[in-house]
Order: sequence, then structure tokens, then C-alpha cells
Amino acid sequence: MTYILKNMKIAVIGLGYVGMPLAVALAKYGCVVGYDVNKTRVKGLKDGWDSNRELRQNILRTTSCQFTDDIADIKDADIYIVTVPTPIDEDNNPDLDIVEKATKALGALIDKGNIIVYESTVYPGVTEDICGAILEKESGLKSGVDFVLGYSPERINPGDKEHSVENITKVVAAQTDDAADLLVEIYGQMNGGKIFKAKNIKTAEASKAIENAQRDINIAFINEITMILNKMGLSSHDVIDAASTKWNFLPFKPGLVGGHCIGVDPYYLAKSAIDVGHQPEVILAGRKTNDNMGAYVAQRIDYFLESSSKKRNILILGFTFKENINDIRNTKVIDVINKLKSYGYNVDVHDPQAVPEDVVSEYGFNILTSLPQDKKYDCVTLAVNHEIYMEMSVENISSLLNTSGKAVIYDIKGIWKELGFPKTLSYETM
Ligand SMILES: NC(=O)c1ccc[n+]([C@@H]2O[C@H](COP(=O)([O-])OP(=O)(O)OC[C@H]3O[C@@H](n4cnc5c(N)ncnc54)[C@H](O)[C@@H]3O)[C@@H](O)[C@H]2O)c1
Repeated sequence: MTYILKNMKIAVIGLGYVGMPLAVALAKYGCVVGYDVNKTRVKGLKDGWDSNRELRQNILRTTSCQFTDDIADIKDADIYIVTVPTPIDEDNNPDLDIVEKATKALGALIDKGNIIVYESTVYPGVTEDICGAILEKESGLKSGVDFVLGYSPERINPGDKEHSVENITKVVAAQTDDAADLLVEIYGQMNGGKIFKAKNIKTAEASKAIENAQRDINIAFINEITMILNKMGLSSHDVIDAASTKWNFLPFKPGLVGGHCIGVDPYYLAKSAIDVGHQPEVILAGRKTNDNMGAYVAQRIDYFLESSSKKRNILILGFTFKENINDIRNTKVIDVINKLKSYGYNVDVHDPQAVPEDVVSEYGFNILTSLPQDKKYDCVTLAVNHEIYMEMSVENISSLLNTSGKAVIYDIKGIWKELGFPKTLSYETM
């Protein structure tokens, strides 16, 4: 079937970190409707407010993209792009519930000739074997014949304005060559033609899964190295600086691996490895190492404070899962806090980006949105390198510390290592 993009209507299903910027970018070139089940989210977008703070108000107010929470509004679309979440369950197994529900709803409204593209991160086979089967059942149409499936993994990085949907290379694949060519045209118009056509859908699905698993393993390696170096009394940041002068050393940094991509997607890959009869040792070892980093950080703080039996005050700087965004989903800073509390420490948490109400509803405690003026701490731990912390001076940091006893600065990210703290303060990095 030959497709003519002009006059085709695109519906984006799921207007979160991935779907909303995509819908707005595509709307510059044609008719796009963004659909989400979350009425509050849709109302916000209609009013020009993106609670994820990815797009500015003026962009939302001027976009031709329509936002709706009424699925009837997308019934006449020609192309459906699915960008709903793909989390894991409590046992770290892929939870396809949301993508299956969205697919079921789509199955009830698709027509012959439609193309259904998945962008949600999945393991190889989900698009064709699971979603395709649901669409066939609900629509009574035949996959690859009456409707065509496509897959295009999303690579955007929240808060990263450089690697946005409009300037990163997009991988696309579809069940038919004509549909794949159409996807090349659709995505290519918004990113200057930077498209890689994968051999087939399963190849495209696998490419996304291995990208994030590779990153997870690289960080896990450096996290393990950090534990070894710390036992030797060495700072991993100093050792990485030295090793990075070699042309092929990969300068990954140690730290907490949160969010709902890097810490989640490797479990999708592991599941599909097990399905084909391979036990994924390295992938799961990486996950285990990274999942234990919160406890490791807390143990280090306890060690620096000499496991004082006296309750001590600790200030954690940063709560979001990474720097300069307000996303607190699956943040591993919570593991540090919980462990420290279990040791009996008093813990305050400051974050200028996280939305306090979200922290209360998701984690049940209040964060500080401005740095304490009067309260003094025995330890200040830098957990997230938000811009505001990068700009702090020795005086700013010292003013937070109780200098009557042993005061510790634990700089997980190593951002203050060149500041030169007075000898009266104990400065530690990973
Ligand atoms: N966030 C990222 O940076 C990123 C990067 C690459 C890939 N991904 C992948 O993209 C997918 C989406 O992630 P996200 O971060 O945008 O998620 P998100 O939670 O920010 O947004 C998902 C949206 O889908 C909506 N939704 C849920 N069920 C729906 C349904 N049945 N119909 C319509 N809307 C529905 C939710 O209300 C929500 O607004 C996931 O598979 C994720 O792994 C995310």
C-alpha cells in the first residue's frame, strides 16, 4: 500500500515525557491529536501548562496540536503512536498492563489502512506478538494486512535540551516497506532526516532494550569499582579523572540509578533472555549492584559519622532521580533516606526542583524548598547535581554544618572536589 502523508491525521496516545513533546513536534508538519486518559494532564496542556516542565507555555499555547481526554476524538486518525508507560512490577517483571489496556482501547477504533506505531520501551516481540494479537482480537482486522504495526524507540533524556526529539536520530521499523518509508518521512521531517531504518520491528525493540542495559551495566561497573576504591581509601572521581586521559576509557560516573528507564528497561531485556533460555548473568548483576547503591551511600555516611549512637542530623541535597528535572519517579535517593532513618539519623531533604506535593503523595514526607538558614547539620550529602548546588561556595556549604563536632560533607557527585574545604571539615566523595 502506498501512503501519502499529506492530509493524514496522527494520534499520539499518552502525553507524558515522551508523548507530549513528540505530539507538539509532529504538529508543526500536519494534523496531530494528543490523547491521554489523565484529565488533569490534558486540562493543564490545554491551558499551556506542562507539569513535566519539558515545554514552555508559549510553545503549548501556540501549537496546532489538539489535546483530548476523549478517545472518540482520535477515531478518525490514520496513524496511531503509542507512548504509554511500561513499568516493572514488585518482582521486577515487565508490567505490560498499561500498554495492553491502551492497545485494547485502540483495537476498538482502528480501521483498515491504519498504522499503529509503538514508542513505549518493550522487549522484542511485544509489538507484534502481544499488541498485534490484541489489536486483531478487538478490531477483527488482520495484522500486517488490514493494519500495519510499527516500532520506533524513544531516546529522549528528560531535562536534556540538547538531545530533544527534534535532534536525535530515530530508529524506525514496520511490518511493511511502505509503512517503514512513511515512518521515515514522518519522523524525518521533524529531526532533519536523521532516521535509521531497522531491519524489522523486533530488531528495533531489541536496540532500545540493549541501549539502556548497556548504560546500566557501565554505571554498575563503575559503582563496583567505587566500592573497591573507597575501601582502599581512594576517591573514584580522582581515579576516573586520571583514567579518562586514556583515549578509549569510558568515563562513567558512580551514583544512584533511578528514573523509569535505565533502572527498569534491563529487566525487560532480562525477561526476554530468560524466555529464550538464556540466564542473563551480567544484566542482572548490573541491576543488583545499582539497586544496592542507596544502601551503600547510607553505610558510607554512617561510617563517616562513626556510627554515632547519638542521633545526628543529616541534610540531603537533591531528591529527583537526576539533575535539573522535577521527576521523582523511582528516585534512589529514597533508599539512602530510608536506610539512614533506620540507623536512627534525623534526615532533612532539600530539592529546588521536585514538587513538594508530589513528594508528599508519593513518599509521605515534606522536602525543603529553600536551604535551611538556622538549622545546623552533622553531615551534608550532595545526592543530585542540580545547577544550584554546582554554584555553591565553601561558605554556603559550611554555613549548613555544625562545626562544634565532626562535620562531614559527602559529595556523591564529586562536584565540589576542587573547592578546597578547611581542614576542620571532613570532605568525602565516592
Ligand atoms: N521518560 C523518558 O525519558 C523516556 C525515554 C525513552 C523512552 N521512554 C519510554 O516511553 C514510554 C512512556 O514514558 P513516559 O516517561 O512518557 O511516561 P509518562 O508516565 O511520563 O507518560 C505516560 C502518559 O501516558 C498516559 N496513559 C496511561 N495509560 C493511557 C491510556 N490507556 N491511554 C492514553 N494515555 C495513557 C498517562 O496518563 C501519562 O500521561 C515508556 O515506555 C518509557 O519507558 C521514556
